[in-house]
Amino acid sequence: MHETSRRLRFFSFCALAVAALGCTRPDGANKALPGDKLFAACTSCHGNKGDGNATLGAPAIAGLPAWYVEAQLVKFRTGARGAHPDDLEGLRMRPMSRQMMDEGEVKSVATYVASLPSAKSAATLQGGDAAAGQVAYGTCTACHGPQGQGNEALKAPPLAGQSDWYLVAQLKKFKAGVRGTNPLDTTGGTMRPMAMLLADEQAMKNVAAHISTLAR
Ligand code: HEC
Ligand code: HEC
Repeated sequence: MHETSRRLRFFSFCALAVAALGCTRPDGANKALPGDKLFAACTSCHGNKGDGNATLGAPAIAGLPAWYVEAQLVKFRTGARGAHPDDLEGLRMRPMSRQMMDEGEVKSVATYVASLPSAKSAATLQGGDAAAGQVAYGTCTACHGPQGQGNEALKAPPLAGQSDWYLVAQLKKFKAGVRGTNPLDTTGGTMRPMAMLLADEQAMKNVAAHISTLAR
């Protein structure tokens, strides 16, 4: 118990001092904490329910499948995602994943995040044309599914229910090569050419407006 609270305090410290790349585990302990305890280190950005925080650029993660959460945490840890100098939000997320958890803990926190009830994020963007977006989304269904439900075999995450601002931000990152260009990021590499099919920000807003109509 004492050990747990000591490590939790350390986690909270790191959450506040994310810029401190030097944060290391205080004790080198190998005992994996349960997912709900580990999740305490995520709430300062992702919210108490994992429903995200637009101001911090932190997406809703509640209910995302464990395989996807785990894969992304591993990517942030290895620098396959979030290490590009222009990736402000990725750089914010990265130290969290990097120093604080061993493999067992990554799995437990991913399982816990997946168990949280997902809420459909409210629309925040103006001016997206959902009808035009539906046409463009035709190309996306092959991997993300007609209902935006995702496809584990193709490693494509669910998109339905995700915040529109986050979807557009990620499409911009893929298109600009801020995400999906690291040689370690093979699944991001398959997504990148898809984002390049979207001509401009308006096209991205349209597709996000369509995704907002899909039930989670
Ligand atoms: C300091 C703020 C911060 C903390 C603390 C934090 N994150 Fe994040 N996280 C972010 C930001 C910002 C992003 C978006 C990165 C981007 O734009 O690519 C993100 C992205 C993610 C993603 C990718 C989601 C997706 O749809 O691809 C996952 C998964 C994630 N975080 C899980 C976690 C977990 C689990 C924890 C706790 C162990 C955690 N995060 C702690 C800020 C944070
Ligand atoms: C060839 C398969 C494929 C197609 C087609 C595809 N995607 Fe993806 N997409 C992926 C994969 C795989 C990922 C996960 C990348 C990773 O692991 O970081 C992804 C990730 C994303 C993300 C980031 C989600 C998150 O939670 O961070 C968005 C947004 C996205 N795709 C939107 C689209 C849109 C919009 C289209 C159609 C224009 C599309 N995708 C077409 C495979 C695909």
